[in-house]
Amino acid sequence: MKVKFILPAAVALLFAFGASAQEITEAAKERAASLVKQMTLDEKLEYIGGYNSFYIRAIPRLGIPEIKMSDGPQGVRNDTKSTLYPSGIVTASTWNRDLARKVGEQIGSDCRARGVGFILGPGVNMYRSPLCGRNFEYFGEDPYLASETAVQYIEGVQGKGVIATVKHFCGNNEEWDRHNVSSEVDERTLQELYLTTFRKAVEEAKVGAVMSSYNMLNGQHMTENPHLIQDIMRGQWGFQGIYMSDWNATYTGIAAANAGLDLEMPSGKYMNPEALRKAIGDGVVDERTIDEKVQHILQTLIAFGMFDRPQKDTTIPLNDPKSDEVALEVAREGIVLLKNDDGVLPLGKGKYVVMGPNADHVAIGGGSGAVHPITTVTFAQAFDAMGKKYKSTLLVSQDGASLASGESRKAIASADAVVYCAGLDKSIEREGSDRSYGLPAEQIEMMDSIAAINPNLIVVMNCGGAVDFGGWASKAKAIVYAMYPGQEGGKAVAEIITGKVNPSGKLAYSISKRIEDEPCYDSYHETSGVSGFRKTDLKKILYAEGLFTGYRGYDRNGVAPLYPFGYGMSYTTFGFSNLKVKKAGKKGNAYTISFDISNTGKTDGAEVAQVYVGAVDPKVVRPVKELKGYEKVYLKKGEKKNVKITLSDEAFHYYDVVSKQFVVAPGDYRIFVGSSSRDTELGPATVTIAPSGN
Ligand code: BGC
Repeated sequence: MKVKFILPAAVALLFAFGASAQEITEAAKERAASLVKQMTLDEKLEYIGGYNSFYIRAIPRLGIPEIKMSDGPQGVRNDTKSTLYPSGIVTASTWNRDLARKVGEQIGSDCRARGVGFILGPGVNMYRSPLCGRNFEYFGEDPYLASETAVQYIEGVQGKGVIATVKHFCGNNEEWDRHNVSSEVDERTLQELYLTTFRKAVEEAKVGAVMSSYNMLNGQHMTENPHLIQDIMRGQWGFQGIYMSDWNATYTGIAAANAGLDLEMPSGKYMNPEALRKAIGDGVVDERTIDEKVQHILQTLIAFGMFDRPQKDTTIPLNDPKSDEVALEVAREGIVLLKNDDGVLPLGKGKYVVMGPNADHVAIGGGSGAVHPITTVTFAQAFDAMGKKYKSTLLVSQDGASLASGESRKAIASADAVVYCAGLDKSIEREGSDRSYGLPAEQIEMMDSIAAINPNLIVVMNCGGAVDFGGWASKAKAIVYAMYPGQEGGKAVAEIITGKVNPSGKLAYSISKRIEDEPCYDSYHETSGVSGFRKTDLKKILYAEGLFTGYRGYDRNGVAPLYPFGYGMSYTTFGFSNLKVKKAGKKGNAYTISFDISNTGKTDGAEVAQVYVGAVDPKVVRPVKELKGYEKVYLKKGEKKNVKITLSDEAFHYYDVVSKQFVVAPGDYRIFVGSSSRDTELGPATVTIAPSGN
């Protein structure tokens, strides 16, 4: 049933500009409350269960329209073709806040073109192990980088009058048996690593919706956890939006209703009139609890303008060239150059062979995040279109490990270089299951065979989380870490390989030398196809490494990763100098970090300056250093710029489990500045925080 909108001109104009759509105002609350009063109990009980898989139902007699949702997060998926943006991990690897915002804005706009009210993203679970099947959707291993990226994405989406849905709340850091595992995380680790991005999504970006995870947290389902939902999310963070379940992540009606779940998706299997009318009659659920849920849903929809204008904006094209352009920009800036021996890249004029399973295929991660693009370009197509300078031959039939014909061997031997597009795709890396660490054996064997014939082997790698680099990486002259770069990714890789674009992506997670070096190696799980992981009892996943995941773990364990968090190469070189640290303001713990960056090479390029902070002799255990600021700086060749980054309390704080809050402990703190978590060219400079913070 459709509801018609008749708009006064002033209201229409307001929403056309998406003015402060994300604020849930007092007026929105009052309007919602008056609707709640007019609803019958059955209407309310029906309203808190979704229908038709991806909808919130309409109540025409009250002028409440039907609202459509769609996955998410890397484009609009449901019942439509639309721009396939690079996956979340690529967006994070750009370390470019403006681009993350543009992705959000364009996805918001793509939603409006299709009448979609909610985008089911961004996904912000932390990268804990390379094996998690959904790493590609998320923003990497560091809560600061993930939060900065998520806040921009959400504000971008919501500025278009579309509700962003931050997911999966929380501790969903594996896909293995996801309905039945319990993530066992201590309170401090939870607060410092796994809740941070959700907190900032609520506090800073005023996200309109939060989606639960499937997994339990410390033995409790996340649709039934009053402490996390009510005390922390609503009480401490001030969340006023909608808390919805993941699809079929509700396991009981009464517990979920009382814990604070507002909306059961995809339908009211447990939270429905039959079950809850009786519970209300029995006095186990209060009708006011139901009113609150309806109130949360209505006040959010009203605040986003959805009761006052059609969600579908017919002035936006369904196939929007601006969306494709943003997808390309993100791929260009997110793809990471990991290795470039002898300056083999960028490729000059020459004869090239292009091969591998992902050469003429747009690789994506699988599951609900998979978008159906309108147009795509594969690497082989894009490279072919780069101009006559590059004569490329695509070798397609590579069954098995060996190079089947003499013809192929001849082409490989006589080429100036071979570009092998390796890695995974949705058949291997996907929602709902974890994967193994190794690359498919035939790919390793193939790279071996190629390198034996032609030493100029260039590998383009598609994957979400890290893969095993053992056995092949040392044979590659160059490695272009493309991850899943979206529909325009093939073009971006071709531009990077030929030097039309200078790479500037930086890893959003560490890549280990061997699986055994992974900080959670001993505390993940064992399942078929995954070797090397100890089985934990009772499907409890004990986060035994605590705070020391990713680079925090490598630092503490004294283990060098193969490629550190924050690492990525450029075709030019940069120099850091002149570090100065100055107190900003008389009170509090704000400091301005100032330094210079110069482009010391022969090409224009961009460097990501990263600021890490570590406490000296802390009274509680703390990581050696943590990312607390960054800036992507664009420099013409020979250019030098001064960069200033301000650190606030948050740069020094930790979560105190006794007082149950973030605190800044007095003492000395080291500040490091550099181009990756392991290349901190400047510092340490030391700042001293006095007991009162003065
Ligand atoms: C996924 C969510 C997704 C939902 C709807 C679930 O299986 O975990 O991320 O938004 O399906 O497709």
